[in-house]
Amino acid sequence: KIIPVLLSGGTGSRLWPLSRETYPKQLLSLTGTETLLQQSAKRASDPERFGRLMVVANAEHRFLIAEQLRTIRCEDAEIVLEPSGRNTAAAAAVAALLALKEHADPLVLLMPADHVVSDVDAFLAALDQAADAAATGSLLLFGIRPSAPSTAYGYIRTGDRLDPEGEVRKVDRFVEKPDLATAEDYLASGDYLWNSGIFLCPAKVLIDELTRFAPKVVEACRAAVQSATRDLDFLRLGREAFMTAPSISLDYAVMEHTDRAAIVPSDFAWTDVGSWSALWEIGEQDADGNVLSGEVIAEETSGSYIRGEGQLVATLGVKDLIVVATGDVVLVADREHDQDVKRIVERLKREG
Ligand code: GDD
Ligand code: MG
Repeated sequence: KIIPVLLSGGTGSRLWPLSRETYPKQLLSLTGTETLLQQSAKRASDPERFGRLMVVANAEHRFLIAEQLRTIRCEDAEIVLEPSGRNTAAAAAVAALLALKEHADPLVLLMPADHVVSDVDAFLAALDQAADAAATGSLLLFGIRPSAPSTAYGYIRTGDRLDPEGEVRKVDRFVEKPDLATAEDYLASGDYLWNSGIFLCPAKVLIDELTRFAPKVVEACRAAVQSATRDLDFLRLGREAFMTAPSISLDYAVMEHTDRAAIVPSDFAWTDVGSWSALWEIGEQDADGNVLSGEVIAEETSGSYIRGEGQLVATLGVKDLIVVATGDVVLVADREHDQDVKRIVERLKREG
């Protein structure tokens, strides 16, 4: 069986002011009533395919996570707590090491807890293809056809077929977050797919490759797992050991270097709901192209994402705006500037 692992450590700063460090994006209901974490947990709940869910998260969020999982009847998940995030290579190493303690030769499915996959059947079909290939010792990635020269994603040049009969291909090259000019070239070439950020890996191979390219991460995580303690139902990683892990993403640490990666070209509807305009795009737009959420009155307004939480937001005669009010903050931004919202967060941090 596949051990599903939700990585829930990011803060989602481009979705400020709704997403905060104490209440990050994966714990919010951004689309519909369930939070992204709940949607992600449900995606991996088919008992035929999956073993017990593991969530690797920041210790600060433990009660919110436990509560959200309880509400969707996922209360038996193992919630593993990081004293503070050391990025995804460390979180992945911990998950693989824990899976190896319980199972002989497990496959781990690493999934961001903050994505929207709207076609779960297509996702599971891609996963089944990946599982066959992963069983032969490859690290499996899921590639998404790129629609824009985004610099927020990893790009993968696909190589030969792994097996002449199947769809799975070797990874020729993996480039994490290229600059804009490079991303434009990749898009134009038609040879590249986006990395979805979902990985299916034999835990042993993942640890081998991490040991090859980021041995300090594995060393720190091994010690952190050994010194882990039970706290209620949570598993707390040993703080001292874990904090010595270098902070590096799995993409930079392993995926850019390994020769054992393979990719399933996928077309499950996937969104890394990273920004307000991404939410506008996937949201239910009214006849004027507005996505309205919460307490909102919009008159002669078009192409806008407007959200009122705890207070009424009224707009008149505007277009292509993002307006988000949360009770203590009002954000008004041009829809084109949505990637820069994190500049405000950085400034707030600097200026206290
Ligand atoms: N537990 C834990 N600890 N989780 C973490 C940590 C950490 O320290 N840091 C990040 N995560 C979680 C995030 O919450 C998210 O769910 C996932 O790991 C990926 O991290 P991001 O920080 O969101 O990565 P990214 O979006 O910049 O890039 C990755 O995803 C893209 C697709 O969305 C890369 O894999 C790219 O190559 C990929 O295209
Ligand atoms: Mg992300």
